Amino acid sequence: MYRTHHCGELSLDHLNQTVTLSGWVQKSRNKGFIIWADLRDRYGITQLVFDEERTPKTVFEQAQNLGREFVIQIEGTVIERESKNPHMTTGAIEVLVEKLSLLNASQTPPFTIEDKTDGGEELRMQYRYLDIRRNPVKEKLIFRSQVAMTVRNYLSKAGFIEVETPYLIKSTPEGARDFVVPSRMNEGQFYALPQSPQTFKQLLMVGGMDKYFQIVKCFRDEDLRADRQPEFTQIDCEMAFVEQEDILNQFEGLTQALLQTIKGIEPKAFPRISYEEAMRKYGNDKPDIRFGMTFAELNDLAQGKGFGVFDSQALIVGIAVPDAAEMSRKEIDALIDWVKRPQIGANGLIWVKCNADGSYKSSVDKFFNEADLAAWAQRCEAKAGDLLLVLSGAVNSTRTQMSALRMELAERLGLRNPNEFAPLWVTDFPLLEWDEESRRYHAMHHPFTAPKPEHKELLKTDPGAVKANAYDLVLNGNEIGGGSIRIHDQQLQSEMFDLLGFSKEEAQAQFGFLMNAFQYGAPPHGGIAFGLDRLVAILGGEETIRDFIAFPKNNSGRDVMIDAPAPLDAQQLHELALQSTAPPKE
Ligand code: AMO
Repeated sequence: MYRTHHCGELSLDHLNQTVTLSGWVQKSRNKGFIIWADLRDRYGITQLVFDEERTPKTVFEQAQNLGREFVIQIEGTVIERESKNPHMTTGAIEVLVEKLSLLNASQTPPFTIEDKTDGGEELRMQYRYLDIRRNPVKEKLIFRSQVAMTVRNYLSKAGFIEVETPYLIKSTPEGARDFVVPSRMNEGQFYALPQSPQTFKQLLMVGGMDKYFQIVKCFRDEDLRADRQPEFTQIDCEMAFVEQEDILNQFEGLTQALLQTIKGIEPKAFPRISYEEAMRKYGNDKPDIRFGMTFAELNDLAQGKGFGVFDSQALIVGIAVPDAAEMSRKEIDALIDWVKRPQIGANGLIWVKCNADGSYKSSVDKFFNEADLAAWAQRCEAKAGDLLLVLSGAVNSTRTQMSALRMELAERLGLRNPNEFAPLWVTDFPLLEWDEESRRYHAMHHPFTAPKPEHKELLKTDPGAVKANAYDLVLNGNEIGGGSIRIHDQQLQSEMFDLLGFSKEEAQAQFGFLMNAFQYGAPPHGGIAFGLDRLVAILGGEETIRDFIAFPKNNSGRDVMIDAPAPLDAQQLHELALQSTAPPKE
C-alpha cells in the first residue's frame, strides 16, 4: 500500500499514529542534525522530519540526498510541531520519518513548483505537467470538474440524456473555418471536425430523444484571443416541443444552480434585453451590466447649435463617468489619445465636467451654454462630480468606440468586480446580417435558426429586418451561451438556404441529410450551447480560459508541450493522398 493518508489530512487528531505517505518533495531544509522536508500531493503538504537521533541512520543518510520533486514514500509517526503554522490544515503536526523509499528521482524542475513561480508562460506551457502540480493551476482544474459535475447533476435530474455525437463529420457552418481530417480509405476526401454538434442534436430531436445534452469538444479554426481556443468545450443542449420561453427558463435554472452551488449566490431572475436595446444602451451585444455608464443619445440636444463636428453626424452619444469630474487635463488628453488610437478609431472626444458646485466646464464651451450642458448631463443621468464623455460619428462605429471606452474606463475605475456576477439574456437578434464584401446575407447565429413566426412574411420582402428566436446568455460582459429555436419545416429550411446564397444542389449536397430528416416528422425544437471554458473562467473570477484548460494551445494555436501541429512524414502523406509521389523505398 502506497499510503494510509494523503498529504493534506493529518492533524493533532492523528498524534502518535504510524502513517504511510507518498508524494513529491517540494523542498527540504538541512540543518545538519535535522532535516525538514515538505511532502506534497494533490491534497496538500505535510512536513516530514528526519532527526539524527530519532531517525534510523540509513534513512537519515538517504534524506540528505532528497532533491526537489523526488517521488518518495515514507512511514513515520505523527508528532506535534514546535512552531505551528495556523494557515495549513497539517500545520500543527509533522511526521517523524522511520522508513523512506525513493519511488522515483527527478531532475531539477525548470521552474519552482510554488504558488508564485519563477517560470514564464512559455516555459510553464512546455512543462505543463509540472505547472499542473502548482496549486493555482491544479485548483482551476478541480474547479472545472466541480462546475461540470454540477451541470451533469442538474441536467440529469431535469431529465436530459447525455448522448455522444461523432467528431469525424461533414462541415457544419457556424461562422468559423473547419479543421479537416483527410480520409485514407476515401482518397481525396476529408472529414471536418465539428464546430459544434448542431445538426446532430437536431437529428436527435427528430429521433425522439426529447431532452439531450453533451459536454463536448468543438473545433474552430479562427483567430485566437483570451476567450477563444481552437478546441474548446461546450455544454450543448437541445429540447423538443419547446418555445423560446421554455428554453430560457430551463437554462436560467441551470445557471442559477451553478451560481448557487459554486458561488453561494441566491437565485434571482435574470434581466432580459433585446439586441437592439443592448446596442443602443451599451453599443455591444454582450453588455457588462455590473456598472452603469449606459449610453445617452444626444442628437436632438447637441445638433443645430453651431458646432459643425456634431451637426453632420448620424449619432452623438454620451456617458457619465462616475466621480471623474476632477480628472486632470493631462488625464483627459490621455483618454482622447486612447480613443484616437487606430484600434479604437475615434476622431476625437468631447468632455463636460459636472462640477460639484453645479456648474459645467467643457471642451465645447464656445458652442454650448450651461443650460445646454445641463440638458446633456440630465440625459446621461449624471450627478454633480461626474464627467461626461461624448463621441459622434456613424451609428455602428460610434457605438463600438463608445463601448470600448466604457469598458476601458470601467477597468481603470475598478468597476469590473470579478466577485460580482451579473447574468443577462440578450434576445431578439436579427436573423441575418448583411456582408458588404460578399454582398449577401449571412446567418447571424446559424442557418438552422427560426425567424420569429410573425416575421416569416418579411423574409421575402425585407430579410434584413427579420428577427430570430435567438438568444445569448451574457455573464459579466462575456457571451457564455447562445442558442435558438430551430426551423423544423423542410420548406422553410430550404428557403433559408436560398436566402443565404446556397444553390439547390449545394444545399442538398451539404444538408440533404437534415432536410430529408425534416420530412419524417421533425418536432418543434430548440436549444442552447454554453462555452464551458468561458463559464468556468468567469465563475473562477478570470477571463482567460487557457488557465482553466489542462493542456491548452498558445496564441498561434500550438501545443508547445507536444510540439503540434507538426509535419507528417512522406509515407503518411502518400497514404493520405496528400502527396502524389510515393517516397523512395529504403
Ligand atoms: P455558438 O457558436 O454561439 O453556438 O457557441 C456557443 C458558445 O460556445 C462558446 N465558444 C467558444 N469558447 C471558447 N473558444 C471558442 N473558440 C469558442 N467559440 C464559441 C461561447 C459561445 O457562446 N450550435 C450553437 C449553439 C446552439 O444554437 O444551440 C453554437 O455553437 O461561449
